[in-house]
Amino acid sequence: MCFLCVGFTEQQGIDMDVEFDVHLGIAHTRWATHGAPSPVNSHPHRSDKNNEFIVIHNGIITNYKDLRKFLESKDYEFESETDTETIAKLVKYMYDNRENDELSFTTLVERVTQQLEGAFVLVFKSVHYPGEAVGTRRGGPLLIGVKCDHKLSTDHIPILYRSTGKDKMGCTALPRVDQDTSLFPTDEKAVEYYFASDASAVIEHTNRVIFLEDDDVAAVNEGRLSIHRIKRTAGDHPARAIQTLQMELQQIMKGNYRAFMQKEIFEQPESVFNTMRGRVNFDDNTVMLGGLKDHIKEIQRCRRLILIACGTSYHAGVATRQVLEELTELPVMVELSSDFLDRNTPVFRDDVCFFISQSGETADSLMALRYCKERGALTVGITNTVGSSISRETDCGVHINAGPEIGVASTKAYTSQFVALIMFALLMCDDRISMQPRRREIIQGLRVLPDLIKEVLSLDDEIKNLAEELYQQKSVLIMGRGYHYATCLEGALKIKEITYMHSEGILAGELKHGPLALVDKLMPVIMIIMRDHTYVKCQNALQQVVARQGRPIVICDRDDQETINNSSRTINVPHCVDCLQGVLSVIPLQLLSFHLAVLRGYDVDCPRNLAKSVTVE
Ligand code: G6P
Repeated sequence: MCFLCVGFTEQQGIDMDVEFDVHLGIAHTRWATHGAPSPVNSHPHRSDKNNEFIVIHNGIITNYKDLRKFLESKDYEFESETDTETIAKLVKYMYDNRENDELSFTTLVERVTQQLEGAFVLVFKSVHYPGEAVGTRRGGPLLIGVKCDHKLSTDHIPILYRSTGKDKMGCTALPRVDQDTSLFPTDEKAVEYYFASDASAVIEHTNRVIFLEDDDVAAVNEGRLSIHRIKRTAGDHPARAIQTLQMELQQIMKGNYRAFMQKEIFEQPESVFNTMRGRVNFDDNTVMLGGLKDHIKEIQRCRRLILIACGTSYHAGVATRQVLEELTELPVMVELSSDFLDRNTPVFRDDVCFFISQSGETADSLMALRYCKERGALTVGITNTVGSSISRETDCGVHINAGPEIGVASTKAYTSQFVALIMFALLMCDDRISMQPRRREIIQGLRVLPDLIKEVLSLDDEIKNLAEELYQQKSVLIMGRGYHYATCLEGALKIKEITYMHSEGILAGELKHGPLALVDKLMPVIMIIMRDHTYVKCQNALQQVVARQGRPIVICDRDDQETINNSSRTINVPHCVDCLQGVLSVIPLQLLSFHLAVLRGYDVDCPRNLAKSVTVE
């Protein structure tokens, strides 16, 4: 018997606890792209009232209006406003107009996807093909979890290619594959398959997964899994490996925490340590990044570094730009993926482009990656998700090893991305004699970082008290400069994402060019003032705010008596080397946003209108 359950985790994943009395089912939790979130717009979508074909879809079909118009002209009646419903109707249309009765479900799905433009991950089920489900992807992630108590008969699935010739009915057909294409035992206790967009949706059941590539069409039928492609092109791997994930179920459980986000904030001493584990040698001050070793010489010769990302991952780029510039002595650009693409930014063969992404699946970042590859740049992935599209499509990279991050608002991934980029900067200058004192200072800073994070986390009660004073406010401004501009942006993003309060990260150097007009005795202001090269300028900013009757709450170095004396309220964090201080200064803001959201009564892990992994442009 085969049991198949299908779930996409764009929001928070399918509830795998639900038991079905069927051996095959599909379901999907989705971030609304077309039409409001409502029962009628929910997935699966169906071809007709008899549910002849049903489909779930992650992505956007850009030509759906044309397809819908065509199908309406053929008297199809639509029930929803979604792009997905067009696919359900189209598959029925193509089935009803088939040339012969032997049309396989996989061929049918291939024909449908040939008509679709945009990005999609699809899984189909049909009364015409009982016991069979077919999944395919283009531009979005799809994996298959494989659960089997027996030893698997193989560790890879060969691809079945269609012949290039046409059969007598005029359709391309699979070559007669006489060898048994079943990959696993098909006895009673055989195999369970789970299609999903994210490994955390299946890890409860199995840690063995197959990552599908664009245009793979995978079918599960009578306990057998087969993967099809229309034709083989140069560079295609003729098989898909079954990989064993290193993820533990416990890692995606909430434990005693109120929310995943809270758990993830408190995991940072370990997650940051895990990012460095086996890579930084604190005794001889060396850094080794296995994922870059074959390319580091080429990277050292490059003309510039471009860091490309979205959301929190972008802030990790902003946070480390200065130290990258300092240690590599290269121009470093930090780009939002969408804007980078909108501008058709010039990219050259001697550029090295970094794609920073927790999920490794963010559509804008993935598009930017493909754009840079086409222009011959060397591409480097900084991701948290082994097997993700970005980690597979980049030339080389660093996994940040922060462990699964479930809360939509990213926390531990940020601090691990930060540390991963610093490790890269250190590696780039490991043979530069003049840099050695600075390198040693930073590496010794990394050594103590996990313990210092623990000290910041012990401020939790104090920050909760602060949240109690602020939670009814409408707005919070966060100001800083230098290394801490990124902290301001990231703190404001956390507050926006989960508390729905207006919050703005403001570069303190720009205060007098506008933002100062917002300051009065009522406006909540948080300032970040650390004892680094911007200290004096930050003191000036503090005076400017105080002079406008502002009463800023200042996150500062706990030994900084001057700031403590000049401020009505401070949050005192331990001191560390300047370029790492941002790892510590962001944590009070992560905690603050969490407590504000709880006090305001919101679901911290699933903020309205947002998704963890944004696989649509
Ligand atoms: C979404 C998430 C953010 C994340 C951003 C980039 O907006 O809600 O938390 O920072 O995507 O995601 P990535 O997976 O590429 O880091």
